Amino acid sequence: MEERTSGFVQILREICREEEIRLQSFSDNWAHRLEKDGQTGFIVGYSFGLNSASVQEICRDKALTSMFLAEKSVPAAEHRFLPLPLSLTDEEMNAYLELCRTLLKKDGKLVLKDNYGTGGNRVYKIESLREAEETLRKIQGFSYAAALSPYYPIDAEYRVVMLDKKAELVIRKERAYRIENGKKVFTEWRHNLGQGATGVMETDERRISELSALAHSALQAVPARFASVDIIRVGEELRVLEINGGVMLEHFASQNALCRAEAKRVYRGAVLKMLAKAE
Ligand SMILES: Nc1ncnc2c1ncn2[C@@H]1O[C@H](COP(=O)(O)OP(=O)(O)O)[C@@H](O)[C@H]1O
Ligand SMILES: [Mg+2]
Repeated sequence: MEERTSGFVQILREICREEEIRLQSFSDNWAHRLEKDGQTGFIVGYSFGLNSASVQEICRDKALTSMFLAEKSVPAAEHRFLPLPLSLTDEEMNAYLELCRTLLKKDGKLVLKDNYGTGGNRVYKIESLREAEETLRKIQGFSYAAALSPYYPIDAEYRVVMLDKKAELVIRKERAYRIENGKKVFTEWRHNLGQGATGVMETDERRISELSALAHSALQAVPARFASVDIIRVGEELRVLEINGGVMLEHFASQNALCRAEAKRVYRGAVLKMLAKAE
């Protein structure tokens, strides 16, 4: 069988070679054991051993993340937790639909998503109550809970990669589009790099500093050491959309040599922190 290696695994191999770290990979290159000078670290998927288990779980849970951020007054996109056990009663479903009705009345749209999803999969823009119910039933089929959000008319979405309180990388995600009659027509409403968006390095210094400050306060509320903080901008208002405890720069790195070098720099920093000896 041919070996499966992602761009991430290639980068990891280069870093380990250059830093004289022993690297062993397992489960189809999904998990890695790194060792140097008696220090050992593990990477599973895109999760480095730098975040505590509970913080990693909070990041995985969109509703919990938004609640812990709100608790510390960090501006965040609202995500309401809607548990969807198989035993969900009609009464409970009706209560959820009442929440949906209020949002639809206000904005004409809302967003329902798998509370634990990634990559833009299972994120749905909803425009009617019937659609809301169908979507909740669909999510119930594969997940324990949905998250309900108001629809934000996003002007831009950013990703700030933070390592130990420092913003290492600030990217703007430009949605996929095509040109029609000389005009930009977006072909996708979501900003995921895995759904065709392009990651562009943000160069506006003022923007970088306000995004970094918000990402920094997000990680004071949810204390991850290595994470990417996704931030949306509506007009001039910034809100944290989600925090990813696994730092996924796969698509970004594949865009060009400069992006790859940036991703490698970020991952090298995380690898070295992971293997650093305790003081
Ligand atoms: N409440 C919302 N309002 C408007 N767009 C949203 C909302 N929630 C998500 N989106 C869009 O969907 C994309 C994916 O949502 P997100 O919550 O980041 O899930 P994932 O973890 O799968 O990336 C976002 O990048 C954004 O473009
Ligand atoms: Mg996202």
